[in-house]
Amino acid sequence: MASNGIDRYGVMGFPVSHSRSPVIHRLFALQTGQKLQYELLQVASDKLESSVRQFQSTGGKGLNITLPHKSDVLRLVDDMSETAKIAGAINTLSFDDDGIHGDNTDGVGLMRDLANNLGVRVGGARILILGAGGATRGILAPLLDAKPTNITIANRTLARAADLADRFSAFGPVSACQFDEVSTVDPYDLVINATSAGVKGETPPYPEAAIGEQTVCYDLSYGLTPTPFSEWAARHGAAKSYMGWGMLVEQAAESFFIWRGVRPDTAVVLKQMSVNAS
Ligand code: ATR
Repeated sequence: MASNGIDRYGVMGFPVSHSRSPVIHRLFALQTGQKLQYELLQVASDKLESSVRQFQSTGGKGLNITLPHKSDVLRLVDDMSETAKIAGAINTLSFDDDGIHGDNTDGVGLMRDLANNLGVRVGGARILILGAGGATRGILAPLLDAKPTNITIANRTLARAADLADRFSAFGPVSACQFDEVSTVDPYDLVINATSAGVKGETPPYPEAAIGEQTVCYDLSYGLTPTPFSEWAARHGAAKSYMGWGMLVEQAAESFFIWRGVRPDTAVVLKQMSVNAS
């Protein structure tokens, strides 16, 4: 608790100044009548442990953890959810008398955005995921749980995609390839960009054959203007090309629920942020 008696939360990352989490959580708090404060905490990797412990010892109640700390923070928790274990990453910490608890709400955030906000069916879908880093690892289990026909992971570095496909094959049908090996026979139902290329302003040779007129494209990244991938997808004739704003708000809502036991109305907040899918 802060000295003013208000529960403290925050987002810890590096860099973090661009984070929308403070705005989203303040809107949630206003909407639900919860009294809390939410801070931006820019923390470099070598200060991660001391900063988390200091936040805890000064009465902090919860933290969102963002890049580049989502995996590093695993070693700091006293326990973690199955979801965080499988994802190999934590984006939500809660502090109480029993210690530090870790969770990961990214996967549920994506699934809620697809199902509730965008009406995208994952069950029975043929899905292509571009990229094989931490972001992909975080969404594979919830996507496979929804019983798609199959998931292909395409990555610049085949070995990373193959490793993830191996690891997650127990959850459902998942295979790996490089961008230029993506099947040209049939377009996919859903193509998800989980690379970090766009963040660096890069547009790698994404597989054009993956996209047909029925294909929904979804970029886990987001921006005030279309991301390179969402622009690329729209240009290549995708039925829809979405950015990850909805996932951002939905994962935040799940963190808010873990901390406060109250579920905010995400549709209202998405509207308040005035971001629309293209
Ligand atoms: P994160 O944890 O955010 O997923 P990461 O583990 O660094 O970040 O993974 C980034 C992903 O984006 C990887 O799949 C990476 O491909 P490689 O495994 O081949 O490195 C992909 N990526 C980043 N920049 C890229 C680019 N310019 N072209 C293609 N893929 C890129």
